[in-house]
Amino acid sequence: MSGVRIDVLTIFPGWFEGPLTTSLLGRAIADDVLDVRVHDLRDWTTDRHRSVDDAPYGGGAGMVMRADVWIDACEAVWNDLDAEVTRGRTVRGEVPGEPLTAGGDRPRTILLTPRGRPLTQELASELAAEDRLVLLCGRYEGIDERVHELVATDEVSIGDYVLFGGEVAAAAVIEAVTRLVPGVVGNQASPEDESFTSGLLEYPQYTRPPTVRGIGVPEVLTSGDHGAVDRWRHARALDLTTERRPDLLDRLEEHDRG
Ligand code: ADE
Repeated sequence: MSGVRIDVLTIFPGWFEGPLTTSLLGRAIADDVLDVRVHDLRDWTTDRHRSVDDAPYGGGAGMVMRADVWIDACEAVWNDLDAEVTRGRTVRGEVPGEPLTAGGDRPRTILLTPRGRPLTQELASELAAEDRLVLLCGRYEGIDERVHELVATDEVSIGDYVLFGGEVAAAAVIEAVTRLVPGVVGNQASPEDESFTSGLLEYPQYTRPPTVRGIGVPEVLTSGDHGAVDRWRHARALDLTTERRPDLLDRLEEHDRG
């Protein structure tokens, strides 16, 4: 398989069934371009309630996700081991209190959290260059800091808002990364031609019919003059970006200002 393998750890494995079987993501998996394995974090719990969280030290509201369960789960996933092998190892003290190792290099292990590095097209390209990723979906209320320290190689946020947990964010990472994997988007020119890759928002698009509720199509698009079409699209992209996302212009390279 030439694509990317992504392991997801979550307490809601069923959540991923829809996204992973639908549309282009489903096709990428069926075509073996993408290999996603969703694991239930609770498989690494050791008590009969299968608890993944506990009350915070120091008191306060809410619960905190336990580091031992996360650590045992990651060790198994990194090394392709069944839960039976690593479950309870941290509790039993068989693993000293230092970062766990994978057999080879530890794959990039991304904890989805609002305090993480913002997900951008640039980060998506960086992650698409990896052949393996591990995504950790926590509940927002909190995760024991030792998971951040010992397990995660990266922390990623999908925006300045708070979700119940990391599942939606993990799905966003999976989609943003997968569509950059060769063979996923039918026309390989298209991911590069878009918003955020060029640094500008996308220009407006039109298709048939030519008139909709009295609104026509800009004449230049039906002129057959490809140079004029390109100039029009660039100008509209620039207008939209100036109006809605001037912050993106600051990062734009000089030649793109056209
Ligand atoms: N978990 C909760 N909110 C999140 C966010 N904005 N990004 C990533 N993970 C999250």
